[in-house]
Amino acid sequence: MSRPHPVQVIAVTGGKGGVGKSNVSVNLGIALSQMGRRVILLDADLGLANIDVLLGISAKRNLAEVLSGECDLRDVLVNGPGGVRIVPASSGTQRMTQLSPMEHAGLINAFSELGDQVDVLIVDTAAGISESVVSFLRAAQELLLVVCDEPTSITDAYALIKLMNRDYGVNRFRILANQVRNEQEGKHLFGKLTRVTERFLDVALQYVGMVPYDEAVRKAVQRQRAVLDAYPRAKASLAIKALAEQVDSWPLPTSPRGHLEFFVERLVGSNT
Ligand SMILES: Nc1ncnc2c1ncn2[C@@H]1O[C@H](COP(=O)(O)OP(=O)(O)O)[C@@H](O)[C@H]1O
Ligand SMILES: [Mg+2]
Repeated sequence: MSRPHPVQVIAVTGGKGGVGKSNVSVNLGIALSQMGRRVILLDADLGLANIDVLLGISAKRNLAEVLSGECDLRDVLVNGPGGVRIVPASSGTQRMTQLSPMEHAGLINAFSELGDQVDVLIVDTAAGISESVVSFLRAAQELLLVVCDEPTSITDAYALIKLMNRDYGVNRFRILANQVRNEQEGKHLFGKLTRVTERFLDVALQYVGMVPYDEAVRKAVQRQRAVLDAYPRAKASLAIKALAEQVDSWPLPTSPRGHLEFFVERLVGSNT
């Protein structure tokens, strides 16, 4: 057996729906893939605007079938733009935290076979702080919170940070300002969030930058294309590429916990 290979697991989250989590997940995945990283995108949101819809792809097989032993994880992966491979949303993704011991073992096996073919796993989470969302956040190494300049987005991000810190001892969060006008507005938004967290919590927020509000994102969504793919020179695309450069410089996990099978183990084991 080959030595387990470190995989960076990044959960893209934010509390509120509609802030841009799925668009950030997809485009960050494409940008990293264009840089030569092998990326898998796990769609952990069964909601309406999921990745299948965003990219106009249709999944033939899904994780529920892996769990029941009907197929392998390989059969589930869908090729997306730029070489990203996608695990589409399904009841299986939602159920990952409530598996029988058999399914549990099967899933860990399925992912460990994939472990040496992936450098980055991006998990696009659902809105809110449901048990399922929290399980993904607990299991990931990096939490990337997408926030936009609306009071509800800031309060939801705060609630999520507070919960993860208080109940699970997470104290490091990466913050991305989305749909802002410029760099200054992004920093200003970050300032608003840190003012509340500094007062009430013992956490470290790290600003990773901003993605500007850009009509090209909306147009791309309408065309069921990723903005990075359809409009590679749009402002939002350039910002995502800069974000990917940064993400690529984040330290790789060095502990054995930084391997894919451990992520899955933490994920499925988190309710036991
Ligand atoms: N940077 C942006 N500029 C313009 N519109 C955006 C941007 N990011 C997201 N949007 C719009 O917001 C909508 C919701 O984005 P989505 O990624 O589906 O959010 P979430 O996954 O957080 O619910 C998208 O359909 C798109 O129209
Ligand atoms: Mg979404």
